[in-house]
Amino acid sequence: MNLRTPGPIPIPDEILQASAKQMINHRGPEFQDLVNNITQGLKQVYRTKNDVLTLTGSGTGSMEAAIVNTLSPGDTVLSVSIGVFGDRFAQIAEAYGARVEKLTFPWGTAIDPNVLKETLEKMPNVKAVLVTHNETSTGVTNDLESVGKVIKDADKLLIVDAISSLSSLPFYTDDWGCDVVAAGSQKGWMVAPGLSFLSMSERAWSAFKESRMPKFYWDVGKAKSYLDRGQTPWTPAIAIMYGLEVSLKMLIDEGLDNVYDRHKAMGDKVREGVNNIGLELFAAESCASNTVTSVHIPDSIEAKELLGSLRTDYDVVIAGGQGSLDGKIMRIGHMGYVPDKDLTEALGSLKSGLDKAGFQPKYSGARG
Ligand SMILES: Cc1ncc(COP(=O)(O)O)c(C=O)c1O
Repeated sequence: MNLRTPGPIPIPDEILQASAKQMINHRGPEFQDLVNNITQGLKQVYRTKNDVLTLTGSGTGSMEAAIVNTLSPGDTVLSVSIGVFGDRFAQIAEAYGARVEKLTFPWGTAIDPNVLKETLEKMPNVKAVLVTHNETSTGVTNDLESVGKVIKDADKLLIVDAISSLSSLPFYTDDWGCDVVAAGSQKGWMVAPGLSFLSMSERAWSAFKESRMPKFYWDVGKAKSYLDRGQTPWTPAIAIMYGLEVSLKMLIDEGLDNVYDRHKAMGDKVREGVNNIGLELFAAESCASNTVTSVHIPDSIEAKELLGSLRTDYDVVIAGGQGSLDGKIMRIGHMGYVPDKDLTEALGSLKSGLDKAGFQPKYSGARG
């Protein structure tokens, strides 16, 4: 199957094999080596001097951990959303009693740092700002460096969902002033779903000491004190950690800059291919993501039928739209190690599927 969803993604063979190893005692020395190696690798990919915690649970778990460990009920937070996952961050904060102010930008566009600056100037009570680096639902990457600068200039805590960017797109946790950064294993980390990661700056640890939101499973104080002994507080997803040890080595051996370049090349190829078919890209070109490409589904085409036929007739799995974009866009994932031929075949199948469905390209520039 050519799995072209924006996570989970196909797992390279050497990582799959590593994950099939026999279990070990998670309170023993072998696990200590495993978690210490992983933590070192994660710190390199996060580009942070602080520890990165490995939590067992999907990406949403690390988003929840980010909130409950830094905030208290009644705290004012600014949620900056450009799509479904930005909205989810706000929902989590609301569920735990934060006072959530919302700044939203039209889906398909990125955060405007100037608007963010003006908004923050009017909201002196904001304690933390929630930002999605790469909005998977719309295929947009925010300019986190500029956004982070505005938030740091305003002296606020910067809490980032980097679930579909970290390990694929340029990311500099410390240099960009990110206080808390959440990531998830099924994306560019090239392992199965089930692990999430969380970095905490010194400022975030100070916020943790003050934070009064309820927490137990996601308590990072426990996670950190166990990590200092080479353990996790709860039984971890050991099999995924085996795979992660290998995938981190692959990423670091390749060189992170090369990894970013490879994703840029994949993004360029998919956007060009989609244009050539005569389809319209959903995300503005200036902020189009290099891990997931969002594409308008033409009015004449029934989304479910097209995606269904790609799966059954061509063995290509492309994601549909989420929320209000359901039926309106499709999303082609290109994160991790994707052989060039898989992208070529996915684009070719998309063209054939559209031809079968009677699609007539509108654009004179479309080359088929
Ligand atoms: C940007 C972003 N945030 C959050 C999530 C939620 O992660 P999970 O489904 O692993 O809980 C995802 C997953 O698709 C994502 O892409």
